[in-house]
Amino acid sequence: SLVTTKQLLLDAQKGGYAIGAFNVENMEMVQAVVAAAEELQSPVILQTTPSTVKYADLAYFYANVKTAAEKASVPIVMHLDHGNSFELAMQALRTGYTSIMIDGSHESFEDNIKVSKAVVDACHPSGVCVEAELGKVGGKEDDLDGGDDNPYTDPREAIEFVEKTGVDSLAVAIGTAHGVYKGTPKVDVERLSEIQKVVSIPLVLHGTSGVPDEVVKECIRRGICKVNYATDLRIAFSKGVNEVLHDAPDTIDPKKYNSKGRDEVKKYVMDKIKVCGSAGKA
Ligand code: 13P
Ligand code: ZN
Ligand code: NA
Repeated sequence: SLVTTKQLLLDAQKGGYAIGAFNVENMEMVQAVVAAAEELQSPVILQTTPSTVKYADLAYFYANVKTAAEKASVPIVMHLDHGNSFELAMQALRTGYTSIMIDGSHESFEDNIKVSKAVVDACHPSGVCVEAELGKVGGKEDDLDGGDDNPYTDPREAIEFVEKTGVDSLAVAIGTAHGVYKGTPKVDVERLSEIQKVVSIPLVLHGTSGVPDEVVKECIRRGICKVNYATDLRIAFSKGVNEVLHDAPDTIDPKKYNSKGRDEVKKYVMDKIKVCGSAGKA
């Protein structure tokens, strides 16, 4: 069933595991993520970025996830990822999204507080939780270019930010970046611990595609409760589609290649649910 993030992330925090949050871009990816969660009896978060909901609007993705969630026995969250305006956050809330990220990390500290607090005030009466970001996760998240400057989250700023906004979870910048890494990412796990010591809310890891599983597990031990994967799902889906079209270029039935893409995404997501340690926690 479709639920909010509140209890899921608090349970994860208490239990020392994380909930995987997977970016979906079509019906098959929605089905794949939910099937993986179902098979492993894990709670799961499905999320869409602004560019995804520009491709097909919020209602299409919400309808897909809601349909899958109603049939599932595990808790499912529908989350807006990197919401880039107050307006889009409100549209997602009205559409029925059960969790919302407002990403004001490209604004000044003060403006980030302002927009994040506004979204919190609008969402909390409906029981919908809000994730915000402090510091900048680098790389390119769809058409949102994080740029190459990659200011890490300052623990002291984090205290003030969480107090003033009332956000439910916080995305931290500790050296991960969206997209594929050129080398191995240097993740500042010490900084993560510093933040975790002073901020009590669940912390969120972005840019996780390409981060070694052992590093992700270390981050979870140090306070990460939600782990975002996007790029690698695209790669998995495209790999499946490409395989079919490579072997049989005359294929004209989208079901033939999309189902192979779906299989690849499901395999990938099952693997990452195990990394997050949330299997059996539904
Ligand atoms: P990756 O594309 O690197 O997995 O990042 C995912 C993410 O942070 C989505 O918000
Ligand atoms: Zn992200
Ligand atoms: Na990445």
